[in-house]
Amino acid sequence: MQKKAVSVGIIGFGTVGTGTAKILLKKRRDIERKLGFPVFLKNIADINTKRERGIKLPEGVLINDPEALLNDPDIDIVVELIGGIHPAKEIILKALRNGKHVVTANKALLAETGREIFKAAEKNRVEIGFEAAVAGSIPIIKIVRESLIGNSISNIYGIINGTANYILTKMTEEAVDFKTALKEAQALGYAEADPTFDIEGIDSAHKLTILASLAFGIPFSFKKIYTEGITGITPLDIQFASEFGYRIKLLAIAKQTGKEIELRVHPTMIPEDDLISGVNGVFNAIYVEGDAIGPALYYGKGAGGMPTGSAVISDIMDIARNIKTGAVEGLHGINLPGISDLKIKKMEEIRTGYYLRFSAIDKPGVLSGISGILGSHNISIKSMIQKGRKKEKAVPVVMMTHEAREKDMVRALKQINRLSIVSGRTMYLRVEGEEI
Ligand code: HSE
Repeated sequence: MQKKAVSVGIIGFGTVGTGTAKILLKKRRDIERKLGFPVFLKNIADINTKRERGIKLPEGVLINDPEALLNDPDIDIVVELIGGIHPAKEIILKALRNGKHVVTANKALLAETGREIFKAAEKNRVEIGFEAAVAGSIPIIKIVRESLIGNSISNIYGIINGTANYILTKMTEEAVDFKTALKEAQALGYAEADPTFDIEGIDSAHKLTILASLAFGIPFSFKKIYTEGITGITPLDIQFASEFGYRIKLLAIAKQTGKEIELRVHPTMIPEDDLISGVNGVFNAIYVEGDAIGPALYYGKGAGGMPTGSAVISDIMDIARNIKTGAVEGLHGINLPGISDLKIKKMEEIRTGYYLRFSAIDKPGVLSGISGILGSHNISIKSMIQKGRKKEKAVPVVMMTHEAREKDMVRALKQINRLSIVSGRTMYLRVEGEEI
């Protein structure tokens, strides 16, 4: 006799919804063989039931009313793939209230309102799967929450936004400016029509919120993450970085220093022989350091219908297994309000190496003026390049510093930017990944 199926309803039939449905339908037999019982795609709800998505659904599966799906007593797992805060939040809360397990790829919703959502799941003793919310094909949620449970993690950082990484790769390989690279990313469908979240680092900060909570047991801290995007990066900085032996990448960093956690997203210079420097295009990579495993690096596609759909399926399968064994009880590994007493470090207190690009008039005493101010703020220069010679006109002067405190750097640059020999604001980037 065939064992009773676990029934799934998907809300949102976009790129990830289509990828998920394709896997569920195509791999139906395979999934049944692996689980020992079938998983049945009962409905997909979307406001647009007409658009061609390159997939043939069985008659009656596609509906336009999410309420029907949320109120259907046959559906065990609701998969939310519409994204954004509203109405995704109301839909998820209703699904939880109705006793349904939820799978979501919605990093913005979890990062910004996760506490409420996870509380509701615990109250209703149902599960929330969110593997698809971070880094698509890299099962980093499972890795941090389950596979590395025997480790104390001291450091987790990486490239977790494919769009920004595509743009920086394009700027590096083809020496084009930010705007040109962004246009190309949009034409290829990598960046949204409104790419703000990707290029301003917000999407990375959403994902970092989730990773840091799992890795360090801290509450969701999205608002406390220092977030800086890539819109100010110029081909000139990429070229200088390369002359010093570095690449520029948008990194999301969660690092324990003493009793504090640094949480920051910003463009970062990394030595070009570091493995993360070789992560190009829309790929993601996440570095984790644990006391038992030492350093580990995970690499794969961070976006797209099929890689993200694959992560959704893994959550559906886990929950389906737990439904069958009766092991579901709101276990999601997020600590409410957090079991750790680690504090978030103030950005001004972080210590890192810096890349500085000044626009300075090329005349005697300029360098001593700049280096004098840096020295008076405890900032020590490691190396320097000056290009070109234009009397009375500004030329770029570029310096790499040893480790310094952010607060000292900000103060020193304020003073330097006021010098009459310096024109325009000084560009500065933080450096990671080596002894500095
Ligand atoms: N906008 C995201 C990215 C998609 O570019 O990585 C997946 O979260």
